[in-house]
Amino acid sequence: MGDDTPERPAPDSARRWREDLDSWAIPPDILAAAPETPWGCPTGLFARAAEEALAEREEAPSPSLQRALEALPEGGSVLDVGAGGGAASLPLCPPAASVTAVDQSPGMLAAFAERAEQLKIDHAEVEGLWPAVAATVGPADVVVCHHVLYNVGDIVPFVVALTGHARRRVVVEITAEHPQSSLNALWKRFHGNVRPTRPTAADAAAVLAELGLDVGIEEFEAAPRWHDHDRAELVAFTRRRLCLPAERDVEIDAVLEPPGPRRSVTLWWSGEAGEAPKWSGAAG
Ligand SMILES: C[S@@+](CC[C@H](N)C(=O)[O-])C[C@H]1O[C@@H](n2cnc3c(N)ncnc32)[C@H](O)[C@@H]1O
Repeated sequence: MGDDTPERPAPDSARRWREDLDSWAIPPDILAAAPETPWGCPTGLFARAAEEALAEREEAPSPSLQRALEALPEGGSVLDVGAGGGAASLPLCPPAASVTAVDQSPGMLAAFAERAEQLKIDHAEVEGLWPAVAATVGPADVVVCHHVLYNVGDIVPFVVALTGHARRRVVVEITAEHPQSSLNALWKRFHGNVRPTRPTAADAAAVLAELGLDVGIEEFEAAPRWHDHDRAELVAFTRRRLCLPAERDVEIDAVLEPPGPRRSVTLWWSGEAGEAPKWSGAAG
């Protein structure tokens, strides 16, 4: 963003988004007793997600893939923000010929690069937090960002930077409900803790609308992720999220439901790369 970008206070919906995300903070006593950080994403699971997305493209492309594919020119470029293993972008090649992956995790970027290399896709990786690294990244025909928004408290500059990097279209996918919602019953069971339910995808859409973006919205049922994955790895992932020690794995294994279909939402809008930004939303 240039220095002359007009700044305005974040809209009410963005303040609400941040407050609702903050309400997911883990109670300090539970966090202090956690044997390992409950946050972070296991690289293996997200490399697997990319495999599943590549297979899904052949069978029944999701609305998110369709919305990106219809905006991509032959030989076009994709920028994947919060790329993980590349589930949002690798299935777009072809028609796309190149993908730039941005992720804060070097492990995810390594998994992405390895798979892109195998698929003979022209690729580049940028390690860092979006939008902090956005100024070092060039524009692309289509910008995709799947399953990242619920990590982003400061949603306005994040979205503004996505929009400013897309020549044609931005495609965002998130679950209809906060991704941790599926663990709410387990939080109650293991900690007696009642977890929040907002924000939701509808709240994200409200922010985008308040930013003046003309957003397409499609809700759909995404295939379960990792349904045939190693059960022990899913239990370990859940145990970590619940701040529990490994000795509780047997109890978790007994009550953890296998991954089911996920209500998901595709949000898409026109890119503005090359246009003057409407406003940065950096204030507030
Ligand atoms: C839930 S995973 C989703 C990965 C992939 N997009 C997918 O759909 O399978 C979220 C990814 O976003 C990355 N991430 C989260 N917030 C980020 C940010 N602000 N900037 C860059 N990467 C971010 C994480 O490291 C992780 O790899």
